[in-house]
Amino acid sequence: MKLLDGKATSLDIQNEIKVNVEELISAGHKKPHLAAIIVGDNPASRAYVGHKIKACAHVGFDSTLIELSSNIEEEQLIDEVNQLNHNKEIDGFIVQLPLPDHIDEQKILQAILPEKDVDGFHPVNAGKLSLGLPSFLPATPAGIVELLDRYNVETSGKHAVVLGRSSIVGTPMTLLLSRNAKRGNCTVTICHSKTQNLSDITRQADIVIAAIGRPHFVTADMIKPGAIVIDVGINRIDDPSKKSGTRLTGDVDFEAVSKIAGAITPVPGGVGPMTIAMLLKNTLKASLLK
Ligand code: GUN
Repeated sequence: MKLLDGKATSLDIQNEIKVNVEELISAGHKKPHLAAIIVGDNPASRAYVGHKIKACAHVGFDSTLIELSSNIEEEQLIDEVNQLNHNKEIDGFIVQLPLPDHIDEQKILQAILPEKDVDGFHPVNAGKLSLGLPSFLPATPAGIVELLDRYNVETSGKHAVVLGRSSIVGTPMTLLLSRNAKRGNCTVTICHSKTQNLSDITRQADIVIAAIGRPHFVTADMIKPGAIVIDVGINRIDDPSKKSGTRLTGDVDFEAVSKIAGAITPVPGGVGPMTIAMLLKNTLKASLLK
């Protein structure tokens, strides 16, 4: 079994971006600048955004964090988005999801200018992806493709099974894996909560992408020996042996599945850091497109 080390790969990519930024600055460009809006005090979201801001400093980007109260009105949040849309200093920005229930997430995402939408969530970017046109790719699926590429995992002609149909991971993942491109050309099956005989399907997979948000959902009996297993889940579970009383775990039963998989991503240290690297790549691209 090969461990697909997202943490080390993300650091490699960040160091490459850092060199790009130094070259840009020498050539008279300004530093790329990412902004992030976070609404409320969801501890997981705060941690993710904190990692994104920290990574900006690592690669030499400027960053701005806008922290808003969970009881902000939808219209006020749209005003904040519009300010970033019009702010010439900001190359790209994200609104960390999920948003509080009283806010229509789609309304907010659609208010972001597509050319500053470095998460790739705006319908223009999602539509371009589905048509195979250049766009900002959603960072998590793009990070998975990049990880497969850096580990030279052959995808052409393979059967990939994607568990989960979310608009930010599962659905764009199926598009990326099936497109006619390097680390694409898979035959893709997308599974979801209404899928029947799930294990029969996953056992046929050469590549399994687990993005369902249920701890240890994917068990060893669901995996074909030698399959590539990518775990997108980040679930916090109780663990009395830890000082905090909890720990992070993925959607895959790592201990058992790692014994039969050909390659597997750990949690933490797998897909999560790759998401950050791809967000930085998108921000660099946004700064060069202006
Ligand atoms: N919530 C979970 N993943 C993401 C992401 O990639 N971007 C944003 N904005 N919110 C998220």
